[in-house]
Amino acid sequence: MSQGDQDTLEIHAETNAQTNASWGGRFSEGPDELVARLNASVSFDQRMFAEDIRGSQVHATMLGAQGIIADEEATLICDGLEKIKGEIERGDWQWSDALEDVHMNVEAKLRERLGDAGARLHTARSRNDQVATDTRMWLMSRIDQLEEQLLLLIRGFISLAENNLDAVLPGYTHLQRAQPILFAHHLLAYVSMFDRDLGRLRDARERMAWSPLGAAALAGTPFPIDRQMTAKALGFNGVISNSLDAVSDRDFAVEFTSAAALCMVHLSRWSEELVLWSSQEFSFIELPDAFSTGSSIMPQKKNPDIPELVRGKTGRVIGDLVTLLTLLKGLPLAYNKDMQEDKEALFDAADTLLDCVTVTAALTPLLRVDQKRMRAACDEGYVTATDVADYLASRGLPFREAHHVVGRLVRWCIMEGRGLTSLSLEEFKRFYTDFDEEILEKVTVESSVAARSSEGGTSPHRVREALLLAKGKFQV
Ligand code: ARG
Repeated sequence: MSQGDQDTLEIHAETNAQTNASWGGRFSEGPDELVARLNASVSFDQRMFAEDIRGSQVHATMLGAQGIIADEEATLICDGLEKIKGEIERGDWQWSDALEDVHMNVEAKLRERLGDAGARLHTARSRNDQVATDTRMWLMSRIDQLEEQLLLLIRGFISLAENNLDAVLPGYTHLQRAQPILFAHHLLAYVSMFDRDLGRLRDARERMAWSPLGAAALAGTPFPIDRQMTAKALGFNGVISNSLDAVSDRDFAVEFTSAAALCMVHLSRWSEELVLWSSQEFSFIELPDAFSTGSSIMPQKKNPDIPELVRGKTGRVIGDLVTLLTLLKGLPLAYNKDMQEDKEALFDAADTLLDCVTVTAALTPLLRVDQKRMRAACDEGYVTATDVADYLASRGLPFREAHHVVGRLVRWCIMEGRGLTSLSLEEFKRFYTDFDEEILEKVTVESSVAARSSEGGTSPHRVREALLLAKGKFQV
């Protein structure tokens, strides 16, 4: 070693005494304690350790293959990282706030063990492309898990529909009884919603699967790296073409969280129906005991806590989306430390959605459906009044006028305490002379449902058709 090298080493030893081992060279003192705590993200980003290690192994292998570091060093790095991974998995590992984040914790240990070889791992990359790569990989595998649970959820809806094909209940608008519909039709509406949610997650995953690795800090690197190779080895479709975009884009997190928030909204609407339907006022369904809770004071109670929680947690995920959008809106290119704040919101959205989809998938097929109560609810509320108007309109009366005639008829029925199916032909004729025998059949609930046979309608024929399509699509 020359005298010059020796001097440099000593200067480093002196300045590094209190400062950060990775970037402390420029600093004469270490960070304030509060600063260190605020700066650290390892308490939450440690959950990306597997992605971080995989990314580093692939990066090191590429550096070796391109002759940027020696092959033996690449092998040492990969083996060292594998060992670290095992230690973290076994819990034989200490995270340090002083080392800021998961990336520097892992790298510091590698350097401590391998010396120069470990210190060469960070050639031709930066934590800026590293964290973007890790986060994308983490989220891609989360989406894969979500996809599985969403498929289970959809199949649960389909099987509940199939097991209750004859059930009829009032369809509601403004939470007022409107027209009778098949319960299966109602359930298949949710199948459509969750199918679109699945599509949005798959879309988001597809756009997320492009590799930022090799963008380095922001501008690329002078080293002859092979970005295609690392992208392929890490399961990406290809590379993000612009280095600034690669390190500063968090669209993927926003897109995912937006799809997650919307899926939560769908889960929340279903949960709200479960809360209503399981109330004594409706009593259309009973929740399985294993998914309900009791009251600590009222012994008779069986509370729908789980649907309520799903409904409540929807607010968190919407909040996560707002957090991410607000985080990004004022950021100049390229990386800014604000971006470290993306993770807790993103993790929370992914965790919450996965839990809520999973619990709803488990609960839904176990609902006990009271078909009698549902059907009885159709006998009140004049739910077939539209059928009377449709009948008159089909006989030539303009629909607006028919609507008026039936309005008067219903008002009279309410005053007399009569239901539409109890009226005689003579009574119908009092409101409009052109009624004939057919009307007595038209006002029944069964005829009303069967009549709605337009494409996408609730008639048993249409619903069977829709169910068959759904079964084919989701392999039930
Ligand atoms: N922990 C950081 C984050 O999550 C990693 C990137 C830090 N890069 C930097 N130059 N400070 O964003």
